[in-house]
Amino acid sequence: MATALPEYVQPETMDILFSKEEIAARVKSIGEQISAEYAGESIVLIGVLKGAAMFLADLARSITVDNTFDFVAVSSYGRARVSSGAVKLIKDIDNPIEGKHVIIVEDILDTGLTLSFLRQMMLQHKPASLKIATCLDKPERRLVPIEADYVCFSIPNRFVIGYGMDFAERYRGVADIRIMPENPPGH
Ligand code: XMP
Ligand code: MG
Repeated sequence: MATALPEYVQPETMDILFSKEEIAARVKSIGEQISAEYAGESIVLIGVLKGAAMFLADLARSITVDNTFDFVAVSSYGRARVSSGAVKLIKDIDNPIEGKHVIIVEDILDTGLTLSFLRQMMLQHKPASLKIATCLDKPERRLVPIEADYVCFSIPNRFVIGYGMDFAERYRGVADIRIMPENPPGH
């Protein structure tokens, strides 16, 4: 059953896990690492809608090698905090990636179900190489063995919002990454 939607909780009241300055510094450094590793190549960044939108936007601007980007969408948690486990592709890539260097860009690597599914899908398109960049990693939640190649931050098992991440579609525009309270005021 879906988690009951709490009354609107002001994001300013939530604890900051990573400030926008900390996020910017980490994304810049990952962008530099990717630029060095792919020097002289072209890359295709594939963002997973909608959570990865901010991370992809910042990452693309911090990468100095030739890059294009595309988006996929998969079935989401909806209002629930826990995944049903079933992943479904809702929007596929627009342009072919055969023979290209591809990096999937995700907001959070959690159980690993989403990225395992997407990796298999993308491999069917025969890219020259395939890597994964995730803003956050919750290693203790993993249900299937999968690791990201680029991780901004590893975090404990707490539900977070902001920097593209939502609770029931809210808070995506919050600039810092904040911890969603488990028992919002009044509940
Ligand atoms: P899996 O479990 O397949 O899921 O690795 C990854 C997706 O789960 C969502 N997710 C979160 N979204 N705050 C969010 O806003 C969280 O703390 C959180 N944990 C997992 C997210 O959409 C991610 O793409
Ligand atoms: Mg996501």
